[in-house]
Amino acid sequence: MDADRRTLLRAGLALLGGAAVTACGGAPPYVSPTGEPVRAAERARAGGRITDVRLTAVAGRVDLGGPVVHTWSYDGRIPGVPVRVRAGEVIRARLANRLPAGTSVHWHGLALRNDADGVPGVTQPPIAAGGDFVYEFTAATPGTYWFHPHSGTQLDRGLYAPLIVEDPRERLRYDAEWTVVLDDWLDGVAGTPDDMLNRLRSGMHHGHMAMSTASALLGGDAGDVTYPHYLLNGRIAAAPETFRARPGRRVRIRLLNAGSDTAFRVALAGHRMTITHADGYPVQPVETDTLLIAMGERYDVLVTLADGVFPLVALAEGKNALARGLVRTGGGRAPELGLRPRELDGALVPAHALRPVQAVRLPRRDPGRTIRLELTGGMMAYDWAVNGRPYDPSVIEEVRSGERVRLAFANHTMMWHPMHLHGHTFALTGTGVRKDTAIVLPHATLEADFDADNPGVWMVHCHNAYHAEAGMMALLGYRRP
Ligand code: C2O
Ligand code: CU
Repeated sequence: MDADRRTLLRAGLALLGGAAVTACGGAPPYVSPTGEPVRAAERARAGGRITDVRLTAVAGRVDLGGPVVHTWSYDGRIPGVPVRVRAGEVIRARLANRLPAGTSVHWHGLALRNDADGVPGVTQPPIAAGGDFVYEFTAATPGTYWFHPHSGTQLDRGLYAPLIVEDPRERLRYDAEWTVVLDDWLDGVAGTPDDMLNRLRSGMHHGHMAMSTASALLGGDAGDVTYPHYLLNGRIAAAPETFRARPGRRVRIRLLNAGSDTAFRVALAGHRMTITHADGYPVQPVETDTLLIAMGERYDVLVTLADGVFPLVALAEGKNALARGLVRTGGGRAPELGLRPRELDGALVPAHALRPVQAVRLPRRDPGRTIRLELTGGMMAYDWAVNGRPYDPSVIEEVRSGERVRLAFANHTMMWHPMHLHGHTFALTGTGVRKDTAIVLPHATLEADFDADNPGVWMVHCHNAYHAEAGMMALLGYRRP
């Protein structure tokens, strides 16, 4: 570990210690992000070869396939260059922060060492403007992941990229692999995400309701923000990325939603898709015409390609707009811009209808503890919160190493929320499907269990960037042994 990182970690500890002291009036009762239990868990992952990654967070102009926007990105690319390793390898990522603000990198979905989780004020201090930080962690679990900042509304800029952890024992057979990253875009077109948050907070954005239609899939209002653009791999629908292959080829498509306030309904015209993974974890393969992917979620699908030119469409759910790419396996003209493949209205397999493959099922066990997280607040006051209280880092829900923990997300609001847990992949009760981000519909309760096997202090929050920033975030802490 180099010196600058050590200094930063010490500062981070002071920060966390400070918060915890206020909470309990003594020594913090929770495992520190840099504590021995965290290091022991990392040793148990027995990391192998080191892959060096360099990321520079920059402010500058990026071409979205026509509109050129001033925004923040990793190395001037949207999405950023994917990071790709094999399971068991160690990622050593040096982030150079050339933004005019502090930032951090969160490795979404990965069960990694707590001090690499990238939550400023919890697992590290913010990486100051002009500063550098090195993340070094073992990527033990194969799957489709991604990374993004965990600072303010930065997620709604261009700061995101895929993180793909290959499975050395991959059982799927396919000829090619594509990564498809979806996003909703406003930065540099309709102000900045901070402007939008201010508008939402001051109640000035209510006019949007007229423009969005209710979504049956999401139980009502689909989002708070109407965006000027929806992007597939950083490009607007009029300037789509084209994926090329020969007809008859089998392709694995890794889909991820890096949006901030938009769920996407995805379909490939003229094709059915076989869902093979949800949030990086294998599921029993199931065919579908379309799927719904919330912010933070990932799905892997297999497709056998027909002959022609086919739009790969992501409908911004409840927002009457599309992102799209093109799949070209033969001659022909690109279909018209607004074409909505009929598959979008076909069979849709939701997350709760998936089944995990046996190997990733959690063993049967009764939860030793249930943590109820009441999702509260609303659009008018913009007071989204957990348990009626906006995010407060001194409030930590306790878990103990080794126990089975049940999370009960009780949604008391009129909106859906994609709830995400850091550092673990929970199992939805009932089916056991493994996920780290799950849709909780309005006025519904979703339960999910996890084994407390990764010590530290971890966030659980709504992956709507504006809801999270308004306060719909909470912390779980492992009690010190
Ligand atoms: Cu992808 Cu806490 O987030
Ligand atoms: Cu939310």
